[in-house]
Amino acid sequence: MPIKITDLKYVYSAGTPFEKTALNNISLEIADGEFWGVIGHTGSGKSTLFSHLNALTRIQYGTIEIDEFKLIGNGGRKPKRKHRPDYKALRSRVGMVFQYPEYQLFAETVEEDVAFGAKNIGVKGEELVERVKGAIQMVGLDYEDVKSRSPFDLSGGQKRRVALAGVLAMHPKILVLDEPTAGLDPRGKKDILDLILKIKSELCPTVIMISHNMDEVAEYCDKIAVMSGGELKLVSTPRELFTSEQLLGELHIEMPCVTALACELKRRGLDINASVITEKELLGEILRVKGMLNADAETPVAEKGADE
Ligand SMILES: Nc1ncnc2c1ncn2[C@@H]1O[C@H](COP(=O)(O)OP(=O)(O)OP(=O)(O)O)[C@@H](O)[C@H]1O
Ligand SMILES: [Mg+2]
Repeated sequence: MPIKITDLKYVYSAGTPFEKTALNNISLEIADGEFWGVIGHTGSGKSTLFSHLNALTRIQYGTIEIDEFKLIGNGGRKPKRKHRPDYKALRSRVGMVFQYPEYQLFAETVEEDVAFGAKNIGVKGEELVERVKGAIQMVGLDYEDVKSRSPFDLSGGQKRRVALAGVLAMHPKILVLDEPTAGLDPRGKKDILDLILKIKSELCPTVIMISHNMDEVAEYCDKIAVMSGGELKLVSTPRELFTSEQLLGELHIEMPCVTALACELKRRGLDINASVITEKELLGEILRVKGMLNADAETPVAEKGADE
């Protein structure tokens, strides 16, 4: 089990009038190769929780195990020396892409910016050049074209890719993305999400994506974690959550737009299975009830395996 969090608690500004318990009683396990989506209202603790994974937020209470690394809280005090892992090694294992990462670009050239993190963890020489080149190519940019340009001269979408490349050059095995599609247009969102899938299959098998968009977590993630008020309320598959009116009601979570549309079509008399959570499934259902399915068409959701 590469990630195991046990009884995690986190308090901001402890002992001051601004004291705020941001996380309480969090335990979870994430298996190798999973793609998690993390949802929950603003202020529910998503960023605080997952910024613990590469020790950007220092553990206060509880334990976190990530492969061979172990982080052990020391009641809000600095962790004991024997409980401090090799932070550089941890940060190369767990890549963290913040919200609007393009605001953190700083170097004179794209190449320098992308190299920064890898250099910090001790990569140098030919290997550094190769990693930077590979990361820039992986995010879909032309290395020769962009390497000497100022990151500030690129478009918003290109800047975000450069920021992502900087994390990928560290060759993480676990990637945490905090709202990676925030502020992008629909095309840009899809491009970034497809890029994340490519990164997952080619470089970094475990991905955790914080998101406010139900359609994207339904479409892309294997597991969903729901946070509320600093607590982890549910871990389930997207289908279990998004097709349960009871769970959605209890957790105050919206349906994905496609599921809502399917429900509306059903309400208006179309005899479809409304338990669809992706565009492809909805299309399959509409084609099925219209008798337009043929061998090449989409599979209706009713025929899909129940193991999802
Ligand atoms: N630096 C800080 N100092 C004090 N309180 C903080 C700080 N950062 C976050 N908090 C508080 O901790 C709680 C959890 O914040 P966090 O940023 O983890 O939420 P989030 O789920 O990521 O929200 P969002 O969806 O808006 O990004 C909130 O109540 C927030 O106000
Ligand atoms: Mg956040």
